[in-house]
Amino acid sequence: MGTLWEGRLSGGTTDALKALNDSLAIDKRLYREDILGSIAHVEMLVSVGLIEESDGALILDALKIAEEEIASGSFVFQVEDEDIHTALERRVTEIAGAAGARMHTGRSRNDQVATDLRLWTLKSLDELALLVMSLQKALIQQANNAGETRLPGYTHLQQAQPVLLSHHLLAHAWALSRDFERIIETRSRTDVSPLGAGALAGSSLPIDPLMTSESLGFSETFKNSLDAVSDRDFVAEAIFVNALLGVHLSRIGEELVLWSSEEFEFVDIDDEYTTGSSMLPQKKNPDVAELARAKTGRIIGNLTGFLTVLKGLPLTYNKDLQEDKEPLFDSFDTNSLVLTALTGIFNSISFNEEKMSAAADKPFSMAIDLAEYLVHKGMPFREAHALIGGLVRTSIDDKKDFKNLVLENDNFGPEIEDFFKPEMAIKRRITPGSTGLEAVEVQKDLIEKRLETQSAMISR
Ligand code: ARG
Repeated sequence: MGTLWEGRLSGGTTDALKALNDSLAIDKRLYREDILGSIAHVEMLVSVGLIEESDGALILDALKIAEEEIASGSFVFQVEDEDIHTALERRVTEIAGAAGARMHTGRSRNDQVATDLRLWTLKSLDELALLVMSLQKALIQQANNAGETRLPGYTHLQQAQPVLLSHHLLAHAWALSRDFERIIETRSRTDVSPLGAGALAGSSLPIDPLMTSESLGFSETFKNSLDAVSDRDFVAEAIFVNALLGVHLSRIGEELVLWSSEEFEFVDIDDEYTTGSSMLPQKKNPDVAELARAKTGRIIGNLTGFLTVLKGLPLTYNKDLQEDKEPLFDSFDTNSLVLTALTGIFNSISFNEEKMSAAADKPFSMAIDLAEYLVHKGMPFREAHALIGGLVRTSIDDKKDFKNLVLENDNFGPEIEDFFKPEMAIKRRITPGSTGLEAVEVQKDLIEKRLETQSAMISR
C-alpha cells in the first residue's frame, strides 16, 4: 500500500519531505486513543448502515490485533507510515482485507487526530491531578507533623517575621489546589468530541457524531465542524496549566535548594534524592530540587512555542497543527517526573527545628509587634513605625542591644519583656488566615476539606 493520497498525486515523496512531514515517531504514543476512536467510528458506521456488520466485525478484530501488536512491540512500522493514523489504517487493511478500506468512511485525519489528542489530554489531566494531590498530601502531612516549629518568614528574601513551618508548607499546598482546579477546568473544555467534523465541513454520508461522542465518553459534541478541526485551545490550556504548576514547583525547588544549603541548614533532604560530587567528597547536592526549579523553563518554552505556532493560522486544519503534540506530551511528562520526585522528597525530608527557630528568634523580628503594641496604646501607626525604626537604627549604629533599648524607652511598660519571647510573636497573630496557632488549625481543617472536594472531582 502506498500513501493515502496516491489517487491524486504522482506517487513518491522526497526523503526531505518525509523526514519533515512524518510525525509517527511522536504520535505513535496516541495508538490506544486512535484505536478507541476507530472502534467508536466503525460501530457507528455499522449502526447507521454505512458498512455491513460483517465488515465492521472484521475491522474491529483487525484493530484489536493491531493494538496487541503495538502493545507487545511486534507491530512492524513501515517506511510509508506517515503517522499513527496511516500506520493503523494500513495494518487494519492488511489484516481485514477489503473491509479495511471502509474504515475511514466519513472521517478525515483532521477530526481523527483532534479526537485522539483530546482523549489523550483528558487521561493525562486526570493523572496529573492525582500527582498534584499526592504532593499536596505530602506537604499537609509535614504541616501536621510540624507542631509549633517556626522559621523566619521572608520578603525580598530578607527575614521579616516568624511564621509557623506548617503555615509555610500549607502555602504551597494552597497554590497546588489552584493548579488542581485549573486542571479540572481545562478538562471540561477538552471534553468535547470533534469526531464527525470530517476534513472540515461534515459529511454527505449519514454519519452520527453524537453516537461516537457518547460511545467515547465525551460530555459534549462539536457544534461547528470548522472550529472542531481547528481548535487546539485545549492543548494550549493544558500546557499553560502545566507551566503555571511548573512555576509553583520551581518555587518549591528553589526553597529546598536554599534551605538545604549549609548557610540555612533548615532541611535535610534524604540521601535518596540527592547526589554526590565526582570530585568533592563532602558534597551532597540537591539535584532533584534544582531540576524541579529548572524544568519549568522548558514547559514555559513549550507554551510560548506552541502559542506562536497557533498565532495567525487561518481556519481550519493546517499542517502547523501537527506541532501540537511534542510540547503537550513533554509538558505532562516533565511535570509528572518533577511531581513524583518532589512528593518523595517531602515524604522523607527532615526539618532542622533548632536552626529554623534560631533564625526566626532574632529581636528585630519583633519590630512590627512592638509597633503594634504602641498602636494598642493609642499611638498612630506611622509614628510607632518611626519610633521603632529609630531604635533599630540606634541599635545597629551604636552596637547596642535592641531589647535593652526598648526596655529603657518610656513608651513601653515592663510587660514588653514578654514580646521578646520568640513563641509569643506567633501567639499574637490572631487574624483569620494568619500564622497564628488557632488560625493555622482552622486552615488545616479547610485544606483537608478542600482535598475531599478535590477527590470528589476526580472520581466523577
Ligand atoms: N499527523 C497529522 C497531525 O498530527 C494528522 C492530520 C493530518 N491531516 C492532514 N490533512 N494532512 O496533525
